[in-house]
Amino acid sequence: MIIHPVRRLRGEITVPGDKSISHRSIMLGALAKGTTTVTHFLEGADCLSSIECFRALGVSVENDPVQKIVRIQGRGLHGLQAPKQTLDAGNSGTTTRLISGILSAQPFTTILTGDASIQKRPMKRIITPLSMMGAHIESLNGNDCAPLKITGAGLHGINYTSPVASAQVKSAILLAGLYADSQTSVTEPALSRNHSELMLTAYGAHVSHKKNSDGSHKISIEPAEELYARDIQVPGDISSAAYFIAAGLIVPDASVTVKNVGINPTRDGILQVCRAMGARINVENIHNEGAEPVADITVSSSSLQGTVIGGDLIPTLIDEIPVIAVLACFARGTTIIKDAQELKVKESNRIDTVVEALSAMGADITATEDGMIIHGGHPLHGANIQSHDDHRIAMALAIAAMNSEGPVEISGADCIRISYPEFFTDLKQLTNA
Ligand code: S3P
Repeated sequence: MIIHPVRRLRGEITVPGDKSISHRSIMLGALAKGTTTVTHFLEGADCLSSIECFRALGVSVENDPVQKIVRIQGRGLHGLQAPKQTLDAGNSGTTTRLISGILSAQPFTTILTGDASIQKRPMKRIITPLSMMGAHIESLNGNDCAPLKITGAGLHGINYTSPVASAQVKSAILLAGLYADSQTSVTEPALSRNHSELMLTAYGAHVSHKKNSDGSHKISIEPAEELYARDIQVPGDISSAAYFIAAGLIVPDASVTVKNVGINPTRDGILQVCRAMGARINVENIHNEGAEPVADITVSSSSLQGTVIGGDLIPTLIDEIPVIAVLACFARGTTIIKDAQELKVKESNRIDTVVEALSAMGADITATEDGMIIHGGHPLHGANIQSHDDHRIAMALAIAAMNSEGPVEISGADCIRISYPEFFTDLKQLTNA
C-alpha cells in the first residue's frame, strides 16, 4: 500500500464498532438465556474469530456482515458443548484470554490456539489466576503461550492481585468468577477498560468496583445462576477514531468529525492527550448507548506541542500509542511516553516497531525501557516501511504518511482487516471530500 501526502482533509465519518465491546457481546450473548441482537458489530477478523470459537462450542450465531448485525442464541451459563476441533483465536488476544476464563469452568477439555503472533504472546498472566481457581491449563509448547489445553473444573473464588493493568486478564478472571463457588476479586494497579464489568452488569451479574487508598482498583463478581440476554448497540471504536482524529490535527487544511464514538472514561486517554498537546478538538452530542457513553468528535488542523504521557493514563490509551507517537512527530518540543512496557507484548513489540518505522521516515525518536522519547518538529519523508503484521502499526503509519514529504510504502498493510477492514476506503473518502 502506497500513501501519498495530502493537503486537505474534510468530512464526517462513522468508524466501525468497538472491538472490545463486539467481542464481549458474542461471549456474554453465548452464555446468556435468550437471544442477543448486536448492531454496529465490528466485522473485523478478530471479532470473527470470537464468533467461530463460539460456533464451535455449539452456539448459533447469525452474522449479517453488510448490515453489521449479529444475532446470538444464548445457551445459558451451562449450555456450551465440547468442541470437535481445536479452537482458533486467529490474531486475537482478547478472544484467547477471555475465552480461557470461560473454558476453565466447562466440563470438558479444549485446545485453544491462534496464529504465529498469538503463539508468542504471554498467557502466564491468565494461566496463573485461572489455575488458582482450579482449572487445569497446559501450555502445549511449554512456553506459557498458546496452544493451551484447558480442562475445566469446579472453580473456587479467589482474591487475585494482578501485576498488570490488563482488561484481558481482569475479564478472564471475572468470566471464570461467574462459575466459582464464592466471590471472585481481581485487583489491578490502575483501572483498565471496564466494558466487561458494564456488560456483565447489564446481563444481570453482580459486579462491584472499589478504588483502594493506594490507587489500585478492586473488581469483584458474585457467582451467577444465569445471565439474561440484552440487545447491544456497539459504539464506534475510539481506537479506530484515533487515526482520523490524528489526521485531522496534522493535515494542514483539515476539519473532520467522527460520529458516534465510544468515550468511556477508561478509554478516553487519547482525548486528554490531544487537549494537553493543544489540539483543536470538540466533543459534542454526549449521550449513552446502553451502558456506554458516546459522542461526536470534531478536530481541525492544529499547532501541537509535546507532552508527557504515563501512569494511570496509559491503560486508557494503550492501543492509541502508535498514533500518538505520530502526533508527537508533528508537535513542537519533546513528548515522553513512559510506564508503557505493555506495548512490548501486543501484536508486535510496539516500542520497537513504532521507533523503527518513524525513524525510517526521519523522526527523532528513541526507544526506552517503558516507552519512547520523541523530539518533534522534524519533517517526515517518504520511506518503505513494515507493518510487522500489526494492524495498529499499519494504520498509524498511514496517518504519518499523510503529512510526510513524499510517498510512504507500507508492506503488509492488509493486516488492517483485524480491526478496521474499510480503513483505506474511509481515509480516501475524507481526502476526496
Ligand atoms: C483489550 C484490552 C487491552 C487492549 C486490547 C483489547 C480488551 O489489552 O490492548 O487491544 O478488549 O480487553 P490488555 O488487556 O492486554 O491490556
